[in-house]
Amino acid sequence: MGQDFFSIKYFDKQFIYIDQTQLPLIEEYYTTDNYEQIAVAIEKLCIRGAPAIGISAAYAIALAFKNHNLLDNEYFENVSNRLASTRPTAVNLFWAIEQMKKVYYSLSKNDNVFDNLVNTAISIHNDDITKCNLIAKNGLPIFSNKCTVLTHCNTGKLATGGEGTALAVIKEAYKRNLVELVYVDETRPLLQGGRLTTYELKKEDIPFYMITDSMAAFVMKQKKVDLVIVGADRIAVNGDAANKVGSYNLAVICKYHNIPFYIAAPETTIDKNCKSENDIPIEERNKFEMNRIQNIKFTKSIYSVYNPSFDLIPHNLITGIITDKGLFNEPYNFNV
Ligand code: MRU
Repeated sequence: MGQDFFSIKYFDKQFIYIDQTQLPLIEEYYTTDNYEQIAVAIEKLCIRGAPAIGISAAYAIALAFKNHNLLDNEYFENVSNRLASTRPTAVNLFWAIEQMKKVYYSLSKNDNVFDNLVNTAISIHNDDITKCNLIAKNGLPIFSNKCTVLTHCNTGKLATGGEGTALAVIKEAYKRNLVELVYVDETRPLLQGGRLTTYELKKEDIPFYMITDSMAAFVMKQKKVDLVIVGADRIAVNGDAANKVGSYNLAVICKYHNIPFYIAAPETTIDKNCKSENDIPIEERNKFEMNRIQNIKFTKSIYSVYNPSFDLIPHNLITGIITDKGLFNEPYNFNV
């Protein structure tokens, strides 16, 4: 069980990450102490998944002070703004930057800036590991005996600092004999399900069927799915959630087929500044992602596309939200 790999790691004043754009065919790790390299890795989705993005940004800010170990507000703001500009939807990014900001502005002249920032990033990372474990445990009550679960995108070790969110729930339930089989949506256009979730399930020896996103409704009609669990990039206080595009489709077809639809996320994904889905910004990505599959063109020229990277799931389509603080149902009162 569980052949080892990791998505992000801090070691010996360096940040190490696996390039998720090349998985599963190439397992390549990069080591850097350059914040700009980490920013580009987040933009290109070498590092991805809401919690992993936030943790990596925290390490990037800290590492920016490795060779510039002094209080320099303008430099801090420039570095933070660069990291904040990488991706707009996952609120964990802005949450982590805010934690770094609080610590930075609490420091005085005699403090070691680099050490304090690194320790903050490490504690954000450790906290996420704990949160993943709690989410996995808190999700167990949604299973009855031997369920077949469908999931979308990748919400496991690759997407977080720990075991994952939705995928951690599935893995924990599998260990306890509560899951028989996982249906994995391939997750077009970048195939986070088909490339990354399958990679993780394979390493854990958990049985799965990969399906194209458009097969989900028919699989449900055939009564092959007991429940759906996905992650989230931002959750509004009324329970509306943003997640990888295709999640809304799943929530709608779950409603039609009377199948429970759950979200699993750490409380750092809940944005108390968002009252509803209307306040959540949705990232639009470039046309090349849609005209190619893993860098192989399948159109004669580059067509114009509409490429929203996330969609919005209204709270009335969500059966429950699993966080490190527990399992929440409507009316949502997260108390963050
Ligand atoms: O564009 P990505 O791959 O970063 O999108 C990831 C997702 O949508 C995940 O479901 C979400 O970040 C939760 S990860 C635990």
